[in-house]
Amino acid sequence: MKRARIISTGRYVPEKLVTNEEMTTLVPTSDEWIRERTGIQQRHFVDREIGASDLGYEAAQIALQRAGLKAADIDFIIFATLSPDYMFPGSGCVMQQRLGVPGIGALDVRTQCTGFVYGLAVANAFIQTGQYKRILLVGAEVHSTGLEFNERGRHIAVLFGDGAGAVILEASENGRGVLSTHLHADGRYVKDLWAENPGSRRIPRMYPGILEDGTCFPQMNGREVFKHAVTKFPEVIMEALQTNNLTLDDVKLVIPHQANLRISEAVAHRLSLPPEKMFNNIQRYGNTTAASIPLALDEALEQGKIHEGDIVVLASFGSGFTWASAAIRW
Ligand code: ACO
Repeated sequence: MKRARIISTGRYVPEKLVTNEEMTTLVPTSDEWIRERTGIQQRHFVDREIGASDLGYEAAQIALQRAGLKAADIDFIIFATLSPDYMFPGSGCVMQQRLGVPGIGALDVRTQCTGFVYGLAVANAFIQTGQYKRILLVGAEVHSTGLEFNERGRHIAVLFGDGAGAVILEASENGRGVLSTHLHADGRYVKDLWAENPGSRRIPRMYPGILEDGTCFPQMNGREVFKHAVTKFPEVIMEALQTNNLTLDDVKLVIPHQANLRISEAVAHRLSLPPEKMFNNIQRYGNTTAASIPLALDEALEQGKIHEGDIVVLASFGSGFTWASAAIRW
């Protein structure tokens, strides 16, 4: 059976490091408050006007180089982000231009925290049908330019970081690769984690006062997010395993979307998953939404936590609400 296999990974974060101590100069907060509730110790922020496509480009270059490939060897681009360079066109087009490969398709995926897993599902389907042979899948976010650095926005501003991860997928017929993907959404919770404006519903779309009323900044019902996340993460992880007649004992590593260390710990507890089987790096990057899984995957590989034949489960939950998982035989 033909499957998509991740043959290479890359990650990139902007140079500027913002520790929790430095965050206290931007919003009224404390290192203790942030660590206790989120586990985050530091994150990276852009320090000039660069977009998600620029971070994605750097991560993609690393993935290409490691695979011994050139951009011209790619036949399709999938770009997952909730912080695109522009309202339109998509960041996939912007990055394609920088990669210098005009003509190949470029698709933006806008499912927020689950963007990478949704993108992986699309890539796997394209590769299984034979439509494309080699796909570049990127998750990249520039959050820092869209956060509200004041008391009103502090509960969200401390959570997010900028960064990118990229993977290259190729067809494999030897049993390795994506075993299954599982995608879910429940639009009843749209307003529990969202940025309302600027949006097409409003007439006119832009108006003076959009900064003052705060509707252009992310809004989050933190308790509702927490409650659903700790239920949906375990459900979708088990769905991936049961589909493939696997158990948690068969799993080498679960790589969850890095939403909040307390969420990941609660999920591990619910599943009775030993800490060494749950990969966390939110401490050093903050929540990088669509970038968090490829960033974590790249680090897990670098740290020698994944070997050929291992079962790896990617899982995510976030705005929408959406939740998703993928089972992979490495
Ligand atoms: N620093 C210091 N104090 C703060 C901060 C801050 N950054 N932010 C809020 N506070 C204050 C509040 O004003 C409030 O003060 P009060 O008690 O005097 O009114 C107090 O801290 C508690 O505020 P809450 O918002 O109720 O904080 P809570 O303890 O519920 O924790 C949190 C907030 C961490 C967001 C929690 O709801 C949570 O863990 N939710 C999960 C959501 C999450 O982590 N999402 C990640 C992004 S979404 C995703 O990727 C899926």
